[in-house]
Amino acid sequence: MKIAIIGAGTMGHGLALVYALGGHVVALTDSRAETLATAPSLIEAACRSLAEAGEIAPDWHATQGAAAINCVPDLAATVAGADLVIEAITERPDAKREVYTTLDKLLPPSAVLASNTSYLDVFPLIPPARQARALIMHWYTPPYLVDLVDIVPGPQTSPDVIAAMRQLVLDLGKVPIVFRHFISGYVANRVQSAIALEVYRLLDEGVVSAADIDNSVIHGLALRMPVLGVLAKADFTGLPLQRDALANRTYAPPPVRGRCDTIDRLLAAGNSGVMSGRGFFDWQGRTPEDLFRERDRRLLALKRAFRAVGPLQAPETS
Ligand SMILES: NC(=O)c1ccc[n+]([C@@H]2O[C@H](COP(=O)([O-])OP(=O)(O)OC[C@H]3O[C@@H](n4cnc5c(N)ncnc54)[C@H](O)[C@@H]3O)[C@@H](O)[C@H]2O)c1
Repeated sequence: MKIAIIGAGTMGHGLALVYALGGHVVALTDSRAETLATAPSLIEAACRSLAEAGEIAPDWHATQGAAAINCVPDLAATVAGADLVIEAITERPDAKREVYTTLDKLLPPSAVLASNTSYLDVFPLIPPARQARALIMHWYTPPYLVDLVDIVPGPQTSPDVIAAMRQLVLDLGKVPIVFRHFISGYVANRVQSAIALEVYRLLDEGVVSAADIDNSVIHGLALRMPVLGVLAKADFTGLPLQRDALANRTYAPPPVRGRCDTIDRLLAAGNSGVMSGRGFFDWQGRTPEDLFRERDRRLLALKRAFRAVGPLQAPETS
């Protein structure tokens, strides 16, 4: 399949790699020349991590990957002849609307248009003639490591398009979840947001340190989650205890305040996270590339173990 990806940032370059790994030919573009110029080295670094973990052949990037992903500065040339066009640009409705309007003039009627939006209902932004072949395909970062893909139809999306895109995702070895309709944040981002709200409240209240909040998640919650998720774990705990725990809870979920004092303080001091060397934690002068590579190395080792173990209740995806 010929695939065009618009936006070569955090998600776009990773998506280009995922589709190339699946044997597709990819054209990648970005309105910022510097971002497009950086994409090949990020893709190559990701391939090095995958090769070191034995996920791809050591020479895959040199012999196949580099040729399968073409960085193209011009939007019209990027989408020429594309079967699937993926929009992975900045999460701003005005920017997305503008791109869809331009694409409407460039694409053949048969092209499928997929947005990677995290929270936006993009369907009202898409021209009417494109609605039947438009959908959301939402990936998680880094997409070459995280397998979940949310597939969301718009009000007029053809069921054939949803079925074809679900099959495409399955053929990439990923896990598609098909929604009946759009909800902002899907399932995984909503659960993640609920955790983040509670974590930021505890942090602002100074109940324990930032390290001990992460220790609680890593050593308390995380081990069981890949095997049991949330609902199968509740079955193991027993539903009577779940009922009692719900009835006895003496605290309310945190209100949505729209901010976290600790984050505001850190940002005011120039601490934006790994990219600046310090966020909640001091990353000891290590470069972002070094840290991303180490993160990927550890995630790949975990993924190998997870593949061998798998979830206890084999979930059927929709
Ligand atoms: N970062 C994540 O973890 C993540 C995860 C899932 C989904 N998403 C979604 O994916 C999309 C992209 O997010 P990201 O994190 O990669 O953002 P990003 O800022 O890293 O990259 C977006 C890129 O789009 C480019 N761009 C903006 N307008 C453009 C245009 N008109 N034409 C071509 N390129 C344009 C920008 O120059 C930028 O390089 C967003 O909708 C976001 O919500 C992000």
